[in-house]
Amino acid sequence: IFESLAATPPMGWNSWNKFGCDVNENLLKQMADAIANSGMKDAGYQYIVIDDCWQVGRDKDGNIIADPKAFPNGIKALADYIHSKGLKLGIYSCAGSLTCQGRPGSRGYQFQDARQYAKWGVDYLKYDWCSNEGQNAEAAYRTMSDALKACGRPIVFSICEWGESQPWKWAKGVGHLWRTTADIRDCYQCKFDWGGVGVLDIIDTLAELYLYAGPGHWNDAEMLEIGNGGMTKDEYITHFSMWAMLAAPLMAGNDLRSMDKDTKEILTNKEVIAVDQDSLGQQARRFMDMGDHEIWAKPLAKGEVAVCFLNRTDHEWQLDYNWKKDVMYFATDVNIHKNEYTIRDLWKHKDIGTTAANTKYNIPAHGVLMVQLNLKK
Ligand code: GLA
Repeated sequence: IFESLAATPPMGWNSWNKFGCDVNENLLKQMADAIANSGMKDAGYQYIVIDDCWQVGRDKDGNIIADPKAFPNGIKALADYIHSKGLKLGIYSCAGSLTCQGRPGSRGYQFQDARQYAKWGVDYLKYDWCSNEGQNAEAAYRTMSDALKACGRPIVFSICEWGESQPWKWAKGVGHLWRTTADIRDCYQCKFDWGGVGVLDIIDTLAELYLYAGPGHWNDAEMLEIGNGGMTKDEYITHFSMWAMLAAPLMAGNDLRSMDKDTKEILTNKEVIAVDQDSLGQQARRFMDMGDHEIWAKPLAKGEVAVCFLNRTDHEWQLDYNWKKDVMYFATDVNIHKNEYTIRDLWKHKDIGTTAANTKYNIPAHGVLMVQLNLKK
């Protein structure tokens, strides 16, 4: 029952990447409106998550207090508003006594906080790992997991301990998703930024973890940076395509009130989202690694398979791919020699041939060709 709360990777929006500590009721309401009106809700985005900085202290009974200036009507009223749009509310806390921004964390108050979230109508908790004071991560996350399971309301549990104690090995059944890296930065390959990781770093970390993902328990590849301006369009397409291949949660992290056409097109590409949300819940594997040219494959529920050609180089990849030549079992039971598939380009939204012939395609620098092999009808 717990795992069914996130049978497919959670989708939504989180305030941190774009707004940091600048969160308030109006902003959150405007984001809910934007999700409901922009086609995002229709594409599957559901959770609106307030990250750090909504909380200012505790009252004399230990109840957590939302910043009365930023949230003058309280969290319950915000939850009601978000629910009235058919969306869900997420909130943030920390397993330490202080959050990463120095706000009160939940250490020592786990059950009380969980009950409070339930009373407010919270549907999702992101739980961080700053000031953890040397606690055992598994024990700390299990305590909050127990608190959420006992609080009387279904709440998705997002574990954010940055992969430090290999949560993929113990967090299935404890949380629904777990971070695997340091914080994402808005770059494809962050050469000079010591404080975070770029898109390629994250892909390489998740490559090793495909066996740990499945319905109800996902490797969290980090929140999306699409629309925040640090990458090219092709790089953002790669970011979104690979997150879908990796069956990663899709949490937009941009300002949804002012999306340009490209950003909106990327975030609402339903064919790519369908790969992410496929009910089989398998994470893609790196099927072939030819230096900086890679081929990834993700088996899908109906015997079909998503394939992503990833060009990590700074120049075009003139792909000429013979589907029958390679032993394309994709390590996944998909036998390319047995069946002939039609090839659907998930960004052009059209069929581009069959696996009986070579696929020729010019893949841009830092770009992808993402296709779905469909069984011939
Ligand atoms: C940590 C988390 C981020 C964000 C910030 C908020 O760095 O990893 O995702 O929640 O804290 O302070």
